[in-house]
Amino acid sequence: METTLAIIKPDAYADGNTGKIIDIIISEGFKIIAMKQIHLSKKDAEGFYEVHKERPFFNELTSFMSSGCCVVLSLERENAVSKWRDVIGTTNPEEAANDTIRKKFGKNTGNNAVHGSDSAENGILESNYFFSKRELI
Ligand code: RTP
Ligand code: MG
Repeated sequence: METTLAIIKPDAYADGNTGKIIDIIISEGFKIIAMKQIHLSKKDAEGFYEVHKERPFFNELTSFMSSGCCVVLSLERENAVSKWRDVIGTTNPEEAANDTIRKKFGKNTGNNAVHGSDSAENGILESNYFFSKRELI
């Protein structure tokens, strides 16, 4: 079993797509081991995306991620990281395969509806960033 962290980003949340995305998560065989609604501070978003702090889009990304509510979920499944990345599609929704979450609900590279961890190690680190041991069931 592997863990990945999913975030329903502020664009998808504001558009009312949270329930539809959770339905997809469940129908794709992920077990939700923790879930919460959260409004990130700018500092929270900067901490979460620290690997990107030298990138030109860092300020835009962290402003967007702290602009409204998100839902964060820690998900468990066999090959959870690669499976979730297949389900969400490429970073740019315009290039994403049909039937992916970003194709259906994303608007552009910045406002792309969802996050997924990029490795099993980061799946655990990112889950621990948002959830206490007591919350990871
Ligand atoms: P994520 O971490 O959110 O799952 O997305 P990702 O792996 O597909 O993409 P990543 O390279 O990790 O970038 C993180 C997020 O930064 C925003 N971004 N903006 N304006 C740009 O060129 C640009 N590039 C990336 C996106 O919101 C991306 O999801
Ligand atoms: Mg990434």
